[in-house]
Amino acid sequence: MEGSDTEGIKSLGLWKRVEVLGDVGIISLPFQYDEKKARELAQRLMKQMRLRSIWGRLRGTEGEHRLGNYVHLAGEKRSEVIYKENGCTFFLDFRKVFFSQTLSFEHLRVAREVRRGEIIVNMFSGYGPFSILAAKLGDASVVYSFDINPYGYYYMHINRWINRTPQVIPILRDSLGRVREIREADRIIAPLPERWRNAWEVIVKNARKGVMVNLYVEVQVEREEDPLQKASLMIPGGKYRVVRSLKPSLYHVAVDIQL
Ligand SMILES: C[S@@+](CC[C@H](N)C(=O)[O-])C[C@H]1O[C@@H](n2cnc3c(N)ncnc32)[C@H](O)[C@@H]1O
Repeated sequence: MEGSDTEGIKSLGLWKRVEVLGDVGIISLPFQYDEKKARELAQRLMKQMRLRSIWGRLRGTEGEHRLGNYVHLAGEKRSEVIYKENGCTFFLDFRKVFFSQTLSFEHLRVAREVRRGEIIVNMFSGYGPFSILAAKLGDASVVYSFDINPYGYYYMHINRWINRTPQVIPILRDSLGRVREIREADRIIAPLPERWRNAWEVIVKNARKGVMVNLYVEVQVEREEDPLQKASLMIPGGKYRVVRSLKPSLYHVAVDIQL
């Protein structure tokens, strides 16, 4: 959602837009920013938009839980929020689980591909958006939902209850280890682009023939190179879509492929 003061803020070069999650706002901060100016603007924005808290987010994610890098700017120092996406409601702490609104289109796109009764394995579930949408909109019969982050597991339990999707089964386990559930799957969702090679190896080794895979890959390109073409050389025979570009030379690409 755009902030009411967005134009003024943009002209100061501090951030592009304000994401509103319930009563909390998140601002994208550039690599270098004036902290005092950022805090003053956050205070003003909080009042204008009637929010209770404003945070700044720096680029990138860190660690194996892929957590974002946030700075508190104004109001309550609270990062546990209610977030609505694609007709579902999620409760999460954006400082404790991976969170990206950029993926909301992918959550919906994959859920729309799901056929009634599918058995799904989500190898990297976070707070559960792919899993819950697949269960609620796609009518999957079971969605085994792995994550190694205990907070992801915790919020997934709450979110399956809020969204009335008992088909979502949260599992606190490394999905790159021994995962017997993969053998049962009609569909595997693997949204961890940085480790796509490991995920692909586990899938190819353990999944049944004919299984549908929604794999997310990281693609490094040279100047003039097309990321979709490069992805098709990495994993031939699929359908490809650019999800986002992290740098001019680095892309995340969605690959839909049937084994
Ligand atoms: C990019 S996030 C995607 C989260 C979620 N699917 C979403 O769309 O918001 C990747 C998730 O994978 C989890 N993860 C990383 N390595 C893992 C592993 N070996 N096994 C299971 N989960 C893992 C992280 O904790 C993180 O929640």
